Amino acid sequence: MSGTVYVVGVGPGHPDQITPEALAAIGAATALLGYGPYLDRLVLGPGQERVASDNREELDRAREALDRAAAGETVCVVSGGDPGVFAMAAAVCEAIDTDGERYGAVNLTVVPGISAMLAVAARVGAPLGHDFCVMSLSNNLKPWTVITDRLRAAARAGFALALYNPISRARPWQLGEALDLLRGDLGGETVVVFGRAVGRPDERVRISTIAAARPERADMATCVIIGTAQTRRVARDGQPDIVYTPRFHREPS
Ligand SMILES: C[S@@+](CC[C@H](N)C(=O)[O-])C[C@H]1O[C@@H](n2cnc3c(N)ncnc32)[C@H](O)[C@@H]1O
Repeated sequence: MSGTVYVVGVGPGHPDQITPEALAAIGAATALLGYGPYLDRLVLGPGQERVASDNREELDRAREALDRAAAGETVCVVSGGDPGVFAMAAAVCEAIDTDGERYGAVNLTVVPGISAMLAVAARVGAPLGHDFCVMSLSNNLKPWTVITDRLRAAARAGFALALYNPISRARPWQLGEALDLLRGDLGGETVVVFGRAVGRPDERVRISTIAAARPERADMATCVIIGTAQTRRVARDGQPDIVYTPRFHREPS
């Protein structure tokens, strides 16, 4: 009899932001597979195996989970945030798609999680309150020209942008180039939010204009939200500023 693969999102980092459904799936698994730092957030029971692998080995990890489940185990593949947003759920689906004979009978349950953009947006108010677009700035899995074309199309169409994977040691220039090209399409006063490690002890959230936004404010634990012409930053008395995009669209006068 076939076992089960749970693909679980453990949220952006704060233990209170893991859902009860995710905790139940984690508790039911005999083995937990994932990137080491995500597994480090979990407290495993005595009978539970920890199978850590590098973040660049997603398809191998997916196949290992499916092989174990095909042999009758209940296993859990762990992602940060939501598992369907630039994470493991697509890799597991792809492995099933490419090897249907082997994995066709495996039970698959994808358990959603709180994605980083939602945690960052909540910290400052509601910058994603109207239509928005989500992109990864990593050109490891798609050409840079595809990214720049999509960025400009989204900005020109009036979408707010939530940018994942904005910068890393191996990809140091992409965020700077993205900000430069967006400055050309958006007004310089457009609001930008840099949300770093939100929900973790080393959280840092900064609000800026796109004219003043610098790529050095981001690292690989940062999600960058770029507002629209309608997005507002509101100063308050003795309270942190809020940023929101109104629910009602008004044509610029
Ligand atoms: C491989 S993607 C995984 C996204 C994840 N599945 C999600 O839904 O949040 C990793 C990127 O998520 C963003 N990220 C993850 N955790 C974050 C946090 N706590 N605060 C801000 N951004 C975060 C960063 O942009 C990071 O480079």
